[in-house]
Amino acid sequence: MKIIGINASPRKNANTQTLVEAILSGAEKNGAETRMVNLRELKINGCLGCEGCKKHLGQCVQKDDLTPLLQDLTTYDAIVLGTPVYWFHVSAQFKMLVDRLYSFMQHTDPETGEAVMKFEFPAGKKFVFVLSRGDAQPAEVLPQLYDHLNEWLNIIPLSLGAANIEFFHQYGAEIDRKAARKSEELIQKAEALGEGL
Ligand SMILES: Cc1cc2nc3c(=O)[nH]c(=O)nc-3n(C[C@H](O)[C@H](O)[C@H](O)COP(=O)(O)O)c2cc1C
Repeated sequence: MKIIGINASPRKNANTQTLVEAILSGAEKNGAETRMVNLRELKINGCLGCEGCKKHLGQCVQKDDLTPLLQDLTTYDAIVLGTPVYWFHVSAQFKMLVDRLYSFMQHTDPETGEAVMKFEFPAGKKFVFVLSRGDAQPAEVLPQLYDHLNEWLNIIPLSLGAANIEFFHQYGAEIDRKAARKSEELIQKAEALGEGL
């Protein structure tokens, strides 16, 4: 089992990173081979919308650190994606990663020219989303602000033919970057999720 964890928080060693790492560490206990990536350490750009990937599906034309990472993603059995909640949505780094997954999307049949909606990404992978929030209230308290986020996140693995999708939420981190690390219960839950992968 190969698992990659991607942390899209710009804060070093903060909550999202801690929880993604705890999931990987749980998975390692069961013999998984893991890789951890912190997007803040990479030079990454947003999607240019150039449609160059439609000539060579799955290959983004940009020459930055995300291009090889996108290719690498296809080789893992499970993908753990972590983001802090920023303005009721994901971080900018996380959105850049998601937009670049467009390079796997085929929207036109190359032979007939008809509209299709297909992702050339190996199906059957497990996906886990890790979200860290400052607000202490569970998302259900303000469904109008947070429901859209879960629905939007769900669409990503569904488009990529995922076998399984799980969510791991941390509430009430406020501005304390060590809040997750201080909660033994949360770390144990994250490790258990990883062991279950
Ligand atoms: C720009 C910005 C926007 C934020 N927006 C929200 C928000 O909409 N809801 C929320 O609960 N917390 C919000 N927060 C708090 C973060 O989600 C919280 O501090 C989180 O734990 C950060 O993750 P990290 O510790 O991994 O960096 C925001 C923080 C920043 C810096």
